[in-house]
Amino acid sequence: MSSKHFIHDPTHLVTTALLSVPHTNPSVQCDIANKIIYRKPHAPQVSIVSGGGSGHEPSFVSFVGPGLLSGAVAGTIFASPSAEQVRRCILHRVPRDKGVLVVVMNYTGDVLNFGMAVEKARAQGVEVDMVVVGDDAGVGRAKGGKVGRRGIAGTVFVLKVAGALAARGASLKDVTRVAQLVADNTVSIGSSLSHVHVPGRRDPEEDELKEGEVEIGMGIHNEAGSERKKTDLPGLVKTMLSHSLDTADQDRSFSKITEKDEVVLLVNNLGGVSPLELGGITNEVVEQLANEFKIKPVRILAGTFMTSLNGLGFSISLLKVADTGIAEASVLELLDAPAEASGWSAAISSSTWTKQGDVKQQEEQATSEEVQPSNLRVDPNLARSALTSALNRVIEVEPDVTKYDTIVGDGDCGIGLKRGAESIFKMLETAKSSDDLLIFLNNIIQVVEVSMDGTSGAIYAIFLNALAHGLRQNAPSSAQPVTPQIWAKALESSLQALGKYTPAQPGDRTLIDALYPFIKTLSKTGNIDDASKAAQKGAQETKGMKASLGRTVYVGGEGFQEVPDPGAHGLAELLLGLSDGLKK
Ligand SMILES: *[C@@H]1O[C@H](CO)[C@@H](O)[C@H](O)[C@H]1NC(C)=O
Repeated sequence: MSSKHFIHDPTHLVTTALLSVPHTNPSVQCDIANKIIYRKPHAPQVSIVSGGGSGHEPSFVSFVGPGLLSGAVAGTIFASPSAEQVRRCILHRVPRDKGVLVVVMNYTGDVLNFGMAVEKARAQGVEVDMVVVGDDAGVGRAKGGKVGRRGIAGTVFVLKVAGALAARGASLKDVTRVAQLVADNTVSIGSSLSHVHVPGRRDPEEDELKEGEVEIGMGIHNEAGSERKKTDLPGLVKTMLSHSLDTADQDRSFSKITEKDEVVLLVNNLGGVSPLELGGITNEVVEQLANEFKIKPVRILAGTFMTSLNGLGFSISLLKVADTGIAEASVLELLDAPAEASGWSAAISSSTWTKQGDVKQQEEQATSEEVQPSNLRVDPNLARSALTSALNRVIEVEPDVTKYDTIVGDGDCGIGLKRGAESIFKMLETAKSSDDLLIFLNNIIQVVEVSMDGTSGAIYAIFLNALAHGLRQNAPSSAQPVTPQIWAKALESSLQALGKYTPAQPGDRTLIDALYPFIKTLSKTGNIDDASKAAQKGAQETKGMKASLGRTVYVGGEGFQEVPDPGAHGLAELLLGLSDGLKK
């Protein structure tokens, strides 16, 4: 993983990150000397304490707050805090009167240090329980050997449920029992494309993953997983889910989740996956659970809950919902309950989740909307052949437009135009022929609006809509063929409408340099042949113009001297094609 960081000194990094927590949540305080985040004084309840090495944020310090943790103790990056830090948290930073539950993940250092602190607190007469979470199914029993199962993202289920139950005034006995119940019913597995780089440390060079390789079961501190392989996302998710759910696999079979169970799914970002990509991953997991395992989770959480610094990976956790035996405090209610901790990002309420099945999905909207007929008549065959000629021309010149746009823009202009043209051709195959110009035009507009995106898509769509409006305003009172005069008036008004949304003027090196002379010439001469030649001339003259608008401005470069503006060129060719088609 990249060794680029904004903060390189690991001590400074951990300290400043801890200091940031109270900035974003005024209900918590920071004991920086002991790296403890803890709640300000509040109504008595069982205290929940957790923690571990830094680098897993928002776990655990950003989970401190009403409804979740009472206190969290941080170590240096990937290293357990000391027993003394934890002892201070239990004895001095959280209320002890109703008892304290300590939840840690199953790592040797954490279990030893938190365990020692628990013993010391007990020796002082405090009622303390400890739950150790080992939800990881990434490495099977045989390979895991003595190391045992580690704790990973499924731990947040335990913290959240215990925190919510404690906030409701439950006893330590109940909170501990339910926390253990959740821990026992949770299974997780992670996978990563790369090891993470720890700020301030040298990159380990030898065992870096190769391009296209993913490590299945990798831990949250770069621990080795069970295998490395080249696979795609569906293949990866398939392996991860079968490691988590296959009860026939003697080596793992850590969970006994079946299709009859209520299941909660967490898809967790290990820190370096874009939210966009995590969305795609989540959808893949949900679909495979449904199709391969007949499991439709009753809750789906996706986001960043427990990271491995900026780890380029994700983990899947599954929680089988078990009966807490406490009225009004089911696992789901406790999970859904709001928590005022800055790191808890699951926002959907119980009632929203349970209502989801009640409301029938809104019927798909009819794809084509009713268009008011008009008096503007066209010869449908001529209109079709002119349009066909124009679109063919656009498709033909796509390589040129793309080439120009690669030089002065971001290279997508030609493809965008071509996609629009092809979509209109598709529409023509099925659309009913009509001699009403506005119906014909509206069919085109609907295609342009959905098939062309980006700036040029928007400009074409605005322009064509304004053109339709202008035509309707200039329509005669009885059915008549459209005249060049009506076209010219409508085009003038749509050019004006376009001006409301883009400041582009002739000379700015945009498609306006072709559109403007086209409309002006058509107004003056009423001759489309002359007008399209004027558009062509206008487009050619953009060579050497400096762009003052649009993406070309940022892209810069030298090539603008030699090539016309791609958008103007594309439009001019379209208009030339249109004019040709009308001659036939
Ligand atoms: C934690 O790991 C130890 C070995 O270090 C193992 O014996 C134990 O079963 C594990 N605990 C859990 C809760 O997974």
